Amino acid sequence: MTRLRHLALTLITCGFTLLGAAALAQPAADDQPPIIDYRNRFLPVVAQRGMVVGPEVLATEVGKTILQRGGNAVDAAVATGFALAVTYPRAGNLGGGGFMLIHLADEQRQTLIDYRETAPAAAGGDLYLDETGEVDRMRMYFSHQSAGVPGTVAGMIYALEQYGSMSLKDVLAPAIALAEDGLEVSFALNFEIASRAERLVQNPEAKRLFFKPDGSSYAIGELWQQPDLAWTLRQIAARGKAGFYQGEVARRIEAEMKAGGGLMTRADLAAYKAVERQPVRGTFHDYEVVSTPPPSSGGVHIIQMLNILEGLPLKEAGHNSAVYLHYLAASMKLAYADRSRYLGDSDFVTVPLAELTGKAYARRQRQTIRADHATPSAEIAPGVNMAPESRDTTHYTVADAAGNMVSNTYTLNFSFGSHIAVPGTGMLLNNEMADFAAAPGTANAYGLVEGEANRIEGGKRPLSSMSPTLVLRDGKPWLATGSPGGSVIITTVMQTLLNAMVFDMNIAAAAAGARVHHQWLPDVLRMEQGISPDSIRLLETMGYQVEIGNRTLGRTQSIMRENGYLYGATDTRRPGGHVAGY
Ligand code: DON
Repeated sequence: MTRLRHLALTLITCGFTLLGAAALAQPAADDQPPIIDYRNRFLPVVAQRGMVVGPEVLATEVGKTILQRGGNAVDAAVATGFALAVTYPRAGNLGGGGFMLIHLADEQRQTLIDYRETAPAAAGGDLYLDETGEVDRMRMYFSHQSAGVPGTVAGMIYALEQYGSMSLKDVLAPAIALAEDGLEVSFALNFEIASRAERLVQNPEAKRLFFKPDGSSYAIGELWQQPDLAWTLRQIAARGKAGFYQGEVARRIEAEMKAGGGLMTRADLAAYKAVERQPVRGTFHDYEVVSTPPPSSGGVHIIQMLNILEGLPLKEAGHNSAVYLHYLAASMKLAYADRSRYLGDSDFVTVPLAELTGKAYARRQRQTIRADHATPSAEIAPGVNMAPESRDTTHYTVADAAGNMVSNTYTLNFSFGSHIAVPGTGMLLNNEMADFAAAPGTANAYGLVEGEANRIEGGKRPLSSMSPTLVLRDGKPWLATGSPGGSVIITTVMQTLLNAMVFDMNIAAAAAGARVHHQWLPDVLRMEQGISPDSIRLLETMGYQVEIGNRTLGRTQSIMRENGYLYGATDTRRPGGHVAGY
């Protein structure tokens, strides 16, 4: 172990011990004890001051250390985002993009930073069609042309400059140390690389990054260093946004694009901007839901489905009963049908946001739900009752002692993105262009059928399902969550919210509940294991085609703030998640 690394680990450990002790000595708000929910088999981790919940231990601990040093939730979120680029290469990234939802306690408001990738200027609507008019899926998923212009570095820097309190150098330092000094390969990392090894080794640079010089894998517990990535992070630390989007890093990206037949140029990189947007908002009974606006479809449809469901007797039906799951599936079908027609980058197309997230539209849609029978997807068209008118991502959540919260989802799209690394940068290219509708009307990698609104255009952002979400109770942030999973992100987040809001589950139980997913097309109700066979039989009688998958749906990272305490839960559906609180 190098001295620096030893120091970093000692700092993390000591910080935990010292500040942990201080936290224990401090009484909770109003002297209330934490809420321990003895009814449940799942308990959250409890802390009093600050918390980071993420998909990987080291980067999550980095975030906590930043909080303990006096950084706010945004500082911690940015440090965690950069650290995950080092420790969690399947989805943590410099070469991808995402959305950061922030609650600013002082100002009692929420804002959203959209750092979604953009299509290179040269990308046109028919980019992925071959000479027969078919979509060339390999080119769309696994080539240099798969990559959108990365947004992560711009987004992290924007968040830090506008809402953070620490210097870029300070929040980058832990990531640089992890890349340079190396990290011990965990079971989860070993497993993640092994699952994608076959494709990763096809790209010489990715092979050089993720495997030993003799081609063998890093074993669990072995040291893995990333000097090229450390170099890239240092360029950013020294020159800010220009250190990535201009200069030598940009030159290396462009050179690799030219060598591999990609479209992205230095001009595309120099033109990239993160955009601050208004989140979308809705209510569900007494709760206020704040979520991600276009170019994500997530927030719009979470609010739409909650509006539809608000008028149905969910609690009376009972959690995961057949009737409850029928209500969920019916609302999902209506929402995803609308997604297919109306959703795209609102800087390029008009999205009927007010209508889709409004109570009146939901009421009309609710009336189409039959009491005891599924409406076949073929009978559901986008815009049912609309008034004329008008495969890997990652999420982490942060809360600080001042009451700020950050809910961040970012991604390369698939696990390890396009599986292509840019020589000399330690960085993988995303394959986010696959989120565009390559041929409107055909299904994308997540089976989602989309339309003209999501057609490829230079500079446009591909439609996303990423849904970092915040729920307010009595005007105060109460629950922050989000998930990976492509199309299932939206329904994963919604069921987590319902578990807490309707069924009063603690956040760990809410995260653990078995989930279902319907996305209109295909007309299949997907389920995790753990739904009662009786419910399944009843749903089949109602006309549902049920598919019990061998994969789980989504993976949330959540924090609930209640009673003066922070309650954190990392979804146990995938290995390696971590709650770091103090
Ligand atoms: O933006 C989106 O909706 C997708 N690119 C997200 C990809 C994803 O969640 C893959 N994870 N399993």
